[in-house]
Amino acid sequence: MHRPKTKILVDGGDPEETRQIKELLGFVDGQTTNPSLIAKNPRIRQLIASGHKLSSREEMDEYKKIVQTISPLVGDAGVSIEVFSDEKTTAQEMLSQGKEMFSWIPNAYIKYPCTEEGLRAAQMSVKEQVRVNMTLCFSQQQAAAVYSATKGTKEPAYVSPFVGRLDDIGQNGMDVVKNIQRMFSKGDGHVLVLAASIRSLEHLLYCFALNADLATVPAKTLEQWANKQFPMPDAQFQYKASGKPIPYEELDLEQSWERFDIQHELTRKGVEEFAADYRATLSPTA
Ligand code: G3P
Repeated sequence: MHRPKTKILVDGGDPEETRQIKELLGFVDGQTTNPSLIAKNPRIRQLIASGHKLSSREEMDEYKKIVQTISPLVGDAGVSIEVFSDEKTTAQEMLSQGKEMFSWIPNAYIKYPCTEEGLRAAQMSVKEQVRVNMTLCFSQQQAAAVYSATKGTKEPAYVSPFVGRLDDIGQNGMDVVKNIQRMFSKGDGHVLVLAASIRSLEHLLYCFALNADLATVPAKTLEQWANKQFPMPDAQFQYKASGKPIPYEELDLEQSWERFDIQHELTRKGVEEFAADYRATLSPTA
C-alpha cells in the first residue's frame, strides 16, 4: 500500500474495531471518539440493555477504559476525547473535564465544540499545554476563530470540519476542508485540518488529493478502501460533489477570535445530539 500523506484516524468508540482496522491497514495514525460513538460502544450498550444506566462518574470511568485501551494502538495523531457539554456548559466546566481527560493517556487531544464557550475553553487549555481538537466545525469563520483562539500553542491544535453533515443539507462539505486549508496556508501552521464526518470512499480520496493533514474515517469506509486494494487519487482525480459550492472568504487570521462569526445551526444541533446520546446512557439520578 502507498501510505497517504494524510494521517488516518479511526472514527469510533470500540477498541476491538480499532485493532481490526490496524490489522487490515497495517497502521492507524490516531482515533477520534465522541459521546454518540461512546454510547454505541458494545460494553456500554450491553450495560444499558441489561437495565444498568450509568452515573456520570461511571460514564467517565468507562470512557477512560475505552481510550486507555485504544491509546497504545495508534500512532502520533493521538486519541481525541470529547468533553460532555450542552448549551449551558461553561468554558470552565469544559476545561475541568478536559484536564481530567487529558491525564488519562499520554497522547490525548481534547475535543471542544466550535462554540463561544468551547473556544474559550480551548484558549485556556492551550495555555496549560492541553492539546485540543475543535469539533463540530462547519465554516471557514469557525476555523479562523480556532486559529486565533489557539495562537501561541506549543502543540499542534486540530480543527475538525464535518463534511458529511454539510452534504446532508445540500452543501459541498469538502469545500470547507479545501477553503480552510487555503486560508491556513497563509498562517503559521499551528492548526491542522482534520477532515471529519467522512462517509464515503470519494470523501476519503478527495482528502488525499487535497493533502488534508488528517482524516477521521469510520471503520466501514476504511474497509471499503482496503477491499479495493487501497486506491489513491491520480492526477486526473475529480471529486464529484453533489451539493452547492461553498465560496472561499478572505479572512484576517490575526483578528481576535471573538470577531469571527462562529454561529452555525449544525454546531448547535450537533451539541444537542451529542448531549442527548450521552444523557441516554445515564441514570435519571446522575
Ligand atoms: O468525525 C465526526 C463524526 O463522528 C460525525 O460523523 O457521520 O455522525 O456526521 P457523522
